[in-house]
Amino acid sequence: MPILIRSQIARVQFESWLYRIFTHERRLAVVRSHHERTAHEGHRHCESGKRCRRLAPGHPRRPLPGPGQIVVRIRATSVNYRDLMVVRGTYAGTLKKDLVALSDGAGEVASVGPGVTRWKVGDRVCLAYFPTWQTGPFETKTHAEALGQSSVDGVLAEYVAIAETGVVRMPEHLSFEEAATLPCAGVTAWHAVAESTNRLVGGQSLLVLGTGGVSIFAAQLGLAAGLRVIATTSSESKAARLRELGVSDVVNYRATPEWQREVLRLTGGEGVDQIIETGGAGTLARSIEAVKASGRISLIGLLTGKDGRIDPLPILLRNIHLEGTIVGSVAMFERMNRALEVRRIKPVIDEVFDFDRASSALAKLESGSHFGKIVIRI
Ligand SMILES: NC(=O)c1ccc[n+]([C@@H]2O[C@H](COP(=O)([O-])OP(=O)(O)OC[C@H]3O[C@@H](n4cnc5c(N)ncnc54)[C@H](OP(=O)(O)O)[C@@H]3O)[C@@H](O)[C@H]2O)c1
Repeated sequence: MPILIRSQIARVQFESWLYRIFTHERRLAVVRSHHERTAHEGHRHCESGKRCRRLAPGHPRRPLPGPGQIVVRIRATSVNYRDLMVVRGTYAGTLKKDLVALSDGAGEVASVGPGVTRWKVGDRVCLAYFPTWQTGPFETKTHAEALGQSSVDGVLAEYVAIAETGVVRMPEHLSFEEAATLPCAGVTAWHAVAESTNRLVGGQSLLVLGTGGVSIFAAQLGLAAGLRVIATTSSESKAARLRELGVSDVVNYRATPEWQREVLRLTGGEGVDQIIETGGAGTLARSIEAVKASGRISLIGLLTGKDGRIDPLPILLRNIHLEGTIVGSVAMFERMNRALEVRRIKPVIDEVFDFDRASSALAKLESGSHFGKIVIRI
């Protein structure tokens, strides 16, 4: 029976990526136990200073900061849809063997290398998703420099060495768990809502699709800026949570598959000023219908896939701005953190998992049952 075959295939695929996570975790567990041992020995030896320094190069378990680098003791990390793709092996591009997963981390500076001027031991920092994208426009080469993909190790580890320019100060009012949600989803939403050309002003309308990390951040930022925020979701319980957050209108896209018509009705037939497009090929055509003439679609995600046909005519005839948005620079991250502090905005966390349950955190992300961000405490 076809259904049986499909479910068998799904099970095999599920098991195979679980296995891959397990492999990562085992490696991380090994790294972690090494770290624990090193930390213990380091504590003993560091009191005499010299022995610690001598020990480290021969046993490079806990990284030593090079010139201009700091080592961050990671306290929390959060998971993103991209991490699922990396772990499943479906992320475009090659990955180095035994890559340490995940891009988003927050922690405290554990040591500083020669020449470091910005940070001291104990400072609370977030790592930037693109540590080398300091400011100015995005360049293609930056892709390969993101944490937790290609050949760059990520943050699912206790200690990470990074250039001092690749981190930002954590907003003071946030915990490590909250700050760990910011580098990818937070900065992406900030880039789209606060830094795109012709950013919206109070009273204009913003549509977010679904209740994942990026959409909830965008909704929070939009509400803080006085925008009218409209959201779609698949579930009534999530609709209630959106309303609690301050979202004025919620459309259930399961109950109303032609949700763009409802968005048009809610906006007097005109459409919304901006859409945070996280759906991709399966939602883009409806987003083009739901946006106002001269409005903006911030193309961010591909939750429904990337293969589809788009009619370019309405984009042209209605002067729609279709704008790809890729995370953001270190400078954007710093601007966002200042705004979060001023507005006392706290990220919405669905659940916090312990390090040993990292695979459960990714499985929950895959289930789509979450609201906002999923965090791993380290
Ligand atoms: N461009 C970038 O720099 C960038 C940065 C971050 C993320 N992304 C991408 O953006 C997308 C979202 O990322 P995320 O971290 O927010 O993901 P996420 O947390 O995994 O979001 C999952 C949520 O999306 C919603 N969703 C799923 N299918 C949907 C559909 N057909 N229509 C509307 N909503 C749908 C569901 O919400 P409901 O249950 O409420 O329906 C689901 O819970 C991903 O494709 C990710 O790779 C891109």
